[in-house]
Amino acid sequence: MTWTPNSWRSRPANHIPDDYPDLKALQDVEARLSQFPPLVFAGEVRNLKSDLAKVAAGNAFLLQGGDCAESFKEFSADNIRDTLRVLLQMAVVLTFAASKPIVKVGRLAGQFGKPRSSPVETIDGVTLPSYRGDNINGMDFTPSARVPDPQRLIHSYSQSASTLNLVRAFSKGGYADLANVHQWMLGFVDRSPLGAQYRETADKITDALNFMHACGVTSESVPQLAQVDMYTSHEALLLGYEEAMTRIDSTSGDWYDTSAHMLWIGHRTRQVDHAHVEFCRGVKNPIGMKCGPGLEADELLRIIETLNPDDEAGRITLIARFGADGVEAGLTPLARAVKASGRSVVWSCDPMHGNTLKTASGFKTRPVDRVLSEVRNFIDVLNNEGCTPGGVHFEMTGQDVTECIGGAQAISEDDLSSRYHTHCDPRLNGEQALELAFLIADKLIGLKESGKDTEDRLAG
Ligand code: PEP
Ligand code: CO
Repeated sequence: MTWTPNSWRSRPANHIPDDYPDLKALQDVEARLSQFPPLVFAGEVRNLKSDLAKVAAGNAFLLQGGDCAESFKEFSADNIRDTLRVLLQMAVVLTFAASKPIVKVGRLAGQFGKPRSSPVETIDGVTLPSYRGDNINGMDFTPSARVPDPQRLIHSYSQSASTLNLVRAFSKGGYADLANVHQWMLGFVDRSPLGAQYRETADKITDALNFMHACGVTSESVPQLAQVDMYTSHEALLLGYEEAMTRIDSTSGDWYDTSAHMLWIGHRTRQVDHAHVEFCRGVKNPIGMKCGPGLEADELLRIIETLNPDDEAGRITLIARFGADGVEAGLTPLARAVKASGRSVVWSCDPMHGNTLKTASGFKTRPVDRVLSEVRNFIDVLNNEGCTPGGVHFEMTGQDVTECIGGAQAISEDDLSSRYHTHCDPRLNGEQALELAFLIADKLIGLKESGKDTEDRLAG
């Protein structure tokens, strides 16, 4: 079957709006977008794929996080900087724990469109189309805001370009210097009510950095210590936009979706013969796929075969999102089948989307202890199956929001209303995200140590 950037159009497509009032206006916008400059470059995408190949082989760890939905309203330099700051801090903690490079991928610079559980929303007896992300319609609960507007695609392209510009400046211009990031992390440890628990890891990192410094390894002598590679990703949901951003790379002659380095297929759009899988199979970007309740092992193998017929390492990241209690039953057969197939994949854990609940007062929230428990269970399941737990995928912000309950600050249900700003799902705030990093670190260090014990026992 030949693939073209628009071959998805002849397949069933869920969660793509079909109620634009003026289809000609939408086509004009897509034609304009197809002339706009690429946001990312094929060479960068290839670098990410080779980094992910290292994750698949167990030699690196993937950290993928950011907003559930970026919004036009929350767009500011401070927000971008704060998200990046937390991702960098998490990466330092995890680098130490895993003793491996951390591949850093933001859910940003393009994460706008949202699949919704229901196409309509009812408030006080009034029913309107659901909000579907700022690149489609508006969040205000008015009939006019909820009409899809194609001009929003131009707006989101431009916001993505500005975001990426700042991300590139921060990641290469000195802000990401390892020494700075470590100092911020120590500030967090001092402030956190659980600081004592984190102190041991933080002290070990300080010792390691002091040792490197004494050996003459500083950001002056090794400029790479002042720079990081930060990649972008979003759900490839709105395929008209993705098609418009898809270009042939002149070096390789291959198609790349230049809207982001990595794209993923959501839980609701992963049907093997539908539009989203069709689109993703033809672009060379690394592709993530959410694996959640209802996904059968043979279906998963068919999707992997469709997306990655040549079994290229780094191409596929499987993102498990079963919920803390569902991960053992849900993930075990999938991990077993993939292992038996011999296919190369990255296994990552999204501990957010299976742990969402609604409070009595109507807030969507996630208990931090469920989030942490899913990550622990995920690691245990994969270890038991002889597979590599390769990474985490989560929704966070650098801002001090109150959207997820629990954590060291013990955010309660009553606190949720004070700073609940998300445009879609509840995000970990900066401190909760760092707690997650320390807890994963503990788990990874524990594994390394129990691995050593096992080796010692075997040797003895
Ligand atoms: C998301 O990542 O925001 C999302 C909608 O996830 P899922 O497709 O796993 O429900
Ligand atoms: Co979400």
